[in-house]
Amino acid sequence: IDDSIDLVSEINRLKQEKNAVILAHYYQKDEIQDIADVVGDSLALAQQATQLEADVFVMSGVHFMAETVKILNPSKKVLLPDMHAGCSLAESCPYDDFKLFVEAHPDHKVISYVNTSAAVKTLTDVVVTSSNARQIVESFPKDEKLIFAPDRNLGNYINSVTGRNMLLWDGACHVHEQFSLEKILDLKNQYPQAKILAHPECQRVVLNVADYIGSTLALLNYSKTSDATQFIVATESGILHEMKKASPQKEFIPAPPLDSTCGCNDCNFMKMNTLKKMYLCLKNEFPFIEIDETVRLKAEKPIRKMLEMSK
Ligand code: 13P
Ligand code: SF4
Repeated sequence: IDDSIDLVSEINRLKQEKNAVILAHYYQKDEIQDIADVVGDSLALAQQATQLEADVFVMSGVHFMAETVKILNPSKKVLLPDMHAGCSLAESCPYDDFKLFVEAHPDHKVISYVNTSAAVKTLTDVVVTSSNARQIVESFPKDEKLIFAPDRNLGNYINSVTGRNMLLWDGACHVHEQFSLEKILDLKNQYPQAKILAHPECQRVVLNVADYIGSTLALLNYSKTSDATQFIVATESGILHEMKKASPQKEFIPAPPLDSTCGCNDCNFMKMNTLKKMYLCLKNEFPFIEIDETVRLKAEKPIRKMLEMSK
């Protein structure tokens, strides 16, 4: 495309022309967050997908997020600026293997994190996000046998705070697994007043030193309302944009990954989306999400159940 093109005004023009809305996750690049109609955590994005009136939805996030929007809006066009924007956590739970696991435990109810494929959601009783996982797990009777997939760190954390013993799928997110406890503690020595904020996808050793654990939105809200003025943030660094915007007088320090040359606190999948790709996908209405209707109907049930339980 012509380099002189003003991408932001072109995107806004196309949005109007096509009656489109842009949903973006907090891990998106700053410039994408700035032009989005809604920026949110996984739960807020799923909720908004049922509330916004539009003919076209652009989900600037990763594939499972766009799939969720399509599952909830089957007659609408759902675009993902880069179809290769996957998720290592969702990929750590392939459908065929998970089906065997579920079939091997027929007396268990299945709770799946939203970071899963639509196919995995068809094997699921209720979907959760990091915002509502605790509340939804606690809604099951204490003696109910539960499978939790795919994130072992979130599962371990929920087991520890609820006193449950859910059977965990052994999956993880490559970004959140990379945070180094040693380096976080070094930072804490440098900034002794700083609060450590961590996403529950981090390993237990990191969660153990956190002052506050929560979803991206919960971490953002904590940073806004806390009296503290410095925060060490152990999640994908995209969230720092909203944190700094909301509290310009406070200092946000991204927690370093184990190998600082790898830049691992950026999610390479989330960062695949660019303004240029956003413009092209709106212009061409491509790439778009397609889901087999049988799969969609089965995957919709546990998502709707989550939305109902999160009102
Ligand atoms: P939340 O937005 O629910 O905190 O999820 C984080 C995440 O890993 C999204 O991919
Ligand atoms: Fe998936 Fe992790 Fe990237 Fe979130 S940060 S999209 S869980 S790989």
